[in-house]
Amino acid sequence: MDIERVGVVGCGLMGSGIAEVAAKANFDVVVREVREDLIEAGRDRIRKSLDRAVEREKLTGLDRDVAWSRLRFSTELSELADRQLVIEAIVEEIGPKNELFSVLDDLCGPEAIFASNTSSLTITDMAVATKRPDRLVGLHFFNPVPVMELVEVVRTIATSEEVFSAVFAFAEALGKKPITAKDNSGFVVNLLLVPYMLDAIRQLERGVASMEDIDQAMTLGLGHPMGPFTLCDFVGIDTVYRISEIMFEEYREARYAPPPLLKRVVSMGRFGRKTGKGFYDWSGEQPAPLRL
Ligand code: 3HC
Repeated sequence: MDIERVGVVGCGLMGSGIAEVAAKANFDVVVREVREDLIEAGRDRIRKSLDRAVEREKLTGLDRDVAWSRLRFSTELSELADRQLVIEAIVEEIGPKNELFSVLDDLCGPEAIFASNTSSLTITDMAVATKRPDRLVGLHFFNPVPVMELVEVVRTIATSEEVFSAVFAFAEALGKKPITAKDNSGFVVNLLLVPYMLDAIRQLERGVASMEDIDQAMTLGLGHPMGPFTLCDFVGIDTVYRISEIMFEEYREARYAPPPLLKRVVSMGRFGRKTGKGFYDWSGEQPAPLRL
C-alpha cells in the first residue's frame, strides 16, 4: 500500500512541522487551516524552518525549493478528497476531532487512512466516530518536529495490519525512528513525561527548590537538554494542562491531576514561549524566571 498524497489538517506548531517533514521526504502535501491568517502564519513558520535547515547545512537550497513546491495550502477541506493519508493536528479536544473525521469519512476514498497527532486522547474514541475504524491510527510527533526523531505509531484493537504497516513505513520514509504503542492515553512518552512535569510543579509548590534550580538540576544532573519548567514553556502550558486533565480523566490517578499552580498560570494566559510568558519571560535575550 503506497502512500504518495498526504493531507495535514491544522498548521500550528505541530501541523506545520509535520507538513514540512512530509514535503522534505518528497510527499505531495496539502495543508488545511480554517482561516487565511492561520495559513499565512503556518506557511511562514515552515519557510523559516526550511531556510534554517539550509543555513545549518541540513538541506540544500535546491531540496528546500523542491520541498516548498510540494506544499499546497487551503482553507477548504474538499482539497483533501484525493489524499491517501490525512493527519490531523488540530485542537486537543475530542469533539472537533470527531467532527473533522466524520466529514473526511464522507469526503475521502474508502482506502484513505486517517491519523491523529493527539498527545493524550485515545485513537479508539476517534475511530468509533468513523465508518472505517480499521483505518485509524495514531501518529504522534514531537516538538520541534523537523528535529526530533521519534514518532509513536499507535494501533487500536481495530487497526488493520496493512494500515499499521503502511503508516509505520510512512514514518520511516520521513526519516523518523518510529516505535509501536498501544492505544492508551499518553502512549509511551507522555505517560512518563506528564507526571514528571507535574511533579516538578508540585516540588515548586512545596518549596523544595526554586524553579531555576529544579531546571538546572535536571539539565546538569541528568543531561536533559532543558529542565521541566523550560520544557513546559516550549510545549505550551495550556497544552500541558489540557493533557493532564485528559489523562486524569482516563486513569483517575492523582499523579495526572493538574496542580493548582499550573491552573493559576493558565488562568493568567501565560501559555509559555508562544505568548511571551509562561514560567519564564521570553521577551529578552535570555529567558527570565517569573515570580509565581
Ligand atoms: N531543520 C533541521 N534541523 C534543524 C532545524 C531545522 N529547522 N533546526 C535545528 N536543527 C538541527 C540543528 O542543525 C542541530 O543538529 P546537529 O546537532 O546535527 O548540529 C540540532 O537540530 C539541534 O539544533 P540547535 O543546536 O540549534 O539547538 P539546541 O542545541 O538548542 O537543541 C533541541 C534544540 C534539539 C530542540 C533541544 O533543545 C531539545 O532536545 N529540546 C527538548 C525537546 C523536547 O523534549 N521535545 C519534546 C517535547 S514533548 C512533545 O512534543 C510531546 C507533546 O505531546 C507534549
